[in-house]
Amino acid sequence: MPDIPSMNILLLGSGGREHAFAFKLSQSPLCKNLFIAPGNAGTMLCGNNINIKPTDFSAIRQFVLNNKIDMVIPGPEDPLVNGIVDFFLQDDRLKNIPVIGPSHKGAQLEGSKDFAKRFLMQHRIPTARFATFTKDTLHNGLQFLHSLSPPYVLKADGLAAGKGVVISENLEDANNQLKQMLSGKFGEASQRVVIEEFLDGIELSVFVLTDGEHYVMLPAAKDYKRIGNGNTGLNTGGMGAVSPVPFAGDEFMQKVENRIVKPTVEGLKKEGIDYKGFIFIGLMNVADDPFVIEYNCRMGDPETETVFPRIKNDFVELFLFVANQKLNETKIITDPRYCSTVILASEGYPGSYETGHEITGLESVKDCIVFQAGVRFENGKRFTSGGRVMAVTAFGETISEATAKCYQGIDKINFKGKYCRTDIGNDLLTEIDAS
Ligand code: AMP
Ligand code: GLY
Repeated sequence: MPDIPSMNILLLGSGGREHAFAFKLSQSPLCKNLFIAPGNAGTMLCGNNINIKPTDFSAIRQFVLNNKIDMVIPGPEDPLVNGIVDFFLQDDRLKNIPVIGPSHKGAQLEGSKDFAKRFLMQHRIPTARFATFTKDTLHNGLQFLHSLSPPYVLKADGLAAGKGVVISENLEDANNQLKQMLSGKFGEASQRVVIEEFLDGIELSVFVLTDGEHYVMLPAAKDYKRIGNGNTGLNTGGMGAVSPVPFAGDEFMQKVENRIVKPTVEGLKKEGIDYKGFIFIGLMNVADDPFVIEYNCRMGDPETETVFPRIKNDFVELFLFVANQKLNETKIITDPRYCSTVILASEGYPGSYETGHEITGLESVKDCIVFQAGVRFENGKRFTSGGRVMAVTAFGETISEATAKCYQGIDKINFKGKYCRTDIGNDLLTEIDAS
């Protein structure tokens, strides 16, 4: 794209994912000023943090107009599910400013499990068999559970901060869970509950960027969701990631593209859903066949911290291709090396944890990119301010090499209650790694 004037960009969010977005955007010669709302101690190294919540649309409007913002990039799902794209399109002064993300309707792929499952069925995209129930149809729900074999998968329909999925090993517990969910265990989110067949396989995260007409596939990643080594303990936002994924070779990814990605983009088009943004597809590889577990309308965290460093494209240019519906004119250029990310968390996460502990040693970390998440900067010092504190990312010719560099970097970083999983990538070791 020749002769494009450089742009003022507003990025929404405050996690490690947003630091990775800011890191990439700020490297682009097309980025004049980068603002991050509200940002964190990492994003302030790449641009200017501003004290606005990603869901405060009227404050965002004012800021965009006052600062001549040319493009808005939402990192998390909340502004998208709350309709920021529609908000911009309905406003005469904002409607020509691109927001990289789906409309409210498109964001329902993440905002409502029932909507997503119906979409999958409608477009014949492989997914687990399912049915949806409410308080009024509890009896049918109990019967449906009876017709399945264990384990049982129950999902709150709405957004439940990543906690709305319950997997029960026996029928009695599943029955109780269904009753509790429909009685408000996850508040409004579980007024409707999707029950589905259990898929037995290995998970991966696939990322697509679409302009509504064309799409590009980004590198896939494996996320480590549980808090403990060996995938034990509570579910978290994600404790580490690796890309590329050895068990998702060319043949498998071709199936993913043909059976899942193409019909998803086509399905959105057929339904007249305005979608110019990321589609994050959570997949299960069941005996080399892909099945969709979930859609998200945004990038993953921590997958972004693993996937974005591997992408060599100019990110502002890439988003301009999305905004101008010209993604067919570009290709994703990928660093072939392995990239690993290990999350450093506060002890206690995903339950309760302390904050406000000083973080030291960052300046001694070598050969890693440290993306900051729950980190606050005050009087020249950094303090913990969240459950997931930072994401330590490194490259290597093998998974072991990449991950070993992450752990060497982590050894240099100190704060009270520092916790990380120590087995990221171990389940994926390839023959080269093993030798
Ligand atoms: P979700 O929020 O839908 O991604 O579900 C959270 C986690 O529950 C997923 O990452 C999977 O590990 C697991 N899960 C969800 N649906 C299924 C399923 N049908 N079969 C097996 N595991 C599942
Ligand atoms: N790491 C999973 C997610 O972002 O939802």
